[in-house]
Amino acid sequence: MSKADGAALNVTDTRTGKEYSLPVHLTGTEGDTAIRTMDLRQIKAQPDDFGMLSYDPAFMNTASCQSAITYIDGDQGILRYRGYPIEQLAENATFLEVAWLLRNGELPTQHEYDHWVQDITFHTYVHENITKFLEGFRYDAHPMSMLCSSVAALSSFYPEAKNIFDDQSRYVSIIRLLAKLPTLAAFAYRHIKGLPLIYPDNDLSYVENFLSMVARMSEPKYEANPVFVRALEILFILHADHEQNCSTSAVRAVGSSHVDPFSAIAAGIAALYGPLHGGANEQVLHMIGEIEHPRNIPAFIEGVKTGTGQRLMGFGHRVYKSYDPRARIVKKLADEVFAQVGMDKDLEIAMELERIALEDDYFISRKLYPNVDFYTGLIYRSMAFPTSFFTVLFAVARTAGWLAQWEEMLLDKEQKIARPRQIYVGPPEREFRSKVTEKHPHVRKGPLRK
Ligand code: CMC
Repeated sequence: MSKADGAALNVTDTRTGKEYSLPVHLTGTEGDTAIRTMDLRQIKAQPDDFGMLSYDPAFMNTASCQSAITYIDGDQGILRYRGYPIEQLAENATFLEVAWLLRNGELPTQHEYDHWVQDITFHTYVHENITKFLEGFRYDAHPMSMLCSSVAALSSFYPEAKNIFDDQSRYVSIIRLLAKLPTLAAFAYRHIKGLPLIYPDNDLSYVENFLSMVARMSEPKYEANPVFVRALEILFILHADHEQNCSTSAVRAVGSSHVDPFSAIAAGIAALYGPLHGGANEQVLHMIGEIEHPRNIPAFIEGVKTGTGQRLMGFGHRVYKSYDPRARIVKKLADEVFAQVGMDKDLEIAMELERIALEDDYFISRKLYPNVDFYTGLIYRSMAFPTSFFTVLFAVARTAGWLAQWEEMLLDKEQKIARPRQIYVGPPEREFRSKVTEKHPHVRKGPLRK
């Protein structure tokens, strides 16, 4: 990242006739340029004005940080972690290798990798009190609520994690979060299924151990289907990071208050839960369930286009304006998984939906293509995960990216507590005149009260 030498944006304020030269401060590796928005503040209509703000709801055109972690070119459908194309990582890497890469910027050596895997494996158990805490949830609690709350609760088990500027403390917190997320996720699964908890088996790999905690019953040693293990490893890699999306921005914003990382990651999980973000994979399956049969697709698409129905879930993306590169990999993966478990009616509906949408001018003109969530839900379901659990799988994987982004934010000397400005549009100053005549009314009588 460097200064664009001498380049500037010349701006004339027609209110005053004054001219300003705003330096083009930043150029990214791939040619992105930016001015510093603070340079706008010198632009004033009156000397005592606050200065010009930039207005950008939903941060459509605002870079909130410089980051060396993930690169996306939404027009070309490119995604790279630390410069490595996602296709190559999905094909050749393990999830923990990617987690190391995201944090450290380079691929691990064998020695570094062994150490990293050993440390993470060593920390997979959670304090026994967490299991009691999870017992308090109702049988039908959403596992994302359970995951979010239990990760937030971890903060109380590791009070030393608030030493965020201590390298060793940060390292241990990162290890703990990567190690314990699968355990907490699996415990949430067992709770909603009413099954006894299965503790980590540290002889197994990261993904195999997770599947063991989810699926093991009476067998002394769980042996996962290798196709499912590889599929989940690839899905974890695809979901590991995605630059400044809603949940990552939440982690950075909350982390910028210098709270401990468990609380910051819990904020990311909360953001991911929403149906417009990670919750979309769950919504895709609900949508397919509502469509019920391929013959109902034309009417459904008509409802999407006229706005009388819902959005086509799993389609569209704020950044990708061509095919999401992750969706391409996931589609291929779906073929491999379905070759094992057989194709069902829902996959047929999904493929037909995609075919129709890709030919329809409504979707073409708005550059709406399938995103990563369109096919992931179908894969997860074929592996027998309940629909409500799909976003949990996303959260386990994204923890790697959140942690790398959180640490990058903390060590970035330019970052401060996140605190956007606003344009106030409420009433001007007015005098308080209460409309309440009785300040302490009696509690209203309800149907069960006399
Ligand atoms: N179905 C139908 N129309 C859509 C869709 C969709 N899925 N997505 C966008 N549009 C239309 C939208 O109505 C608007 O049309 P018009 O210009 O006529 O008003 C236009 O496309 C632009 O939409 P937008 O809402 O301004 O786009 P955005 O960048 O704010 O939203 C999005 C991005 C992902 C929230 C949106 O595409 C969406 O709601 N998709 C469905 C939910 C989904 O699949 N989310 C997963 C995202 S990928 C995984 C992740 O990052 O979590």
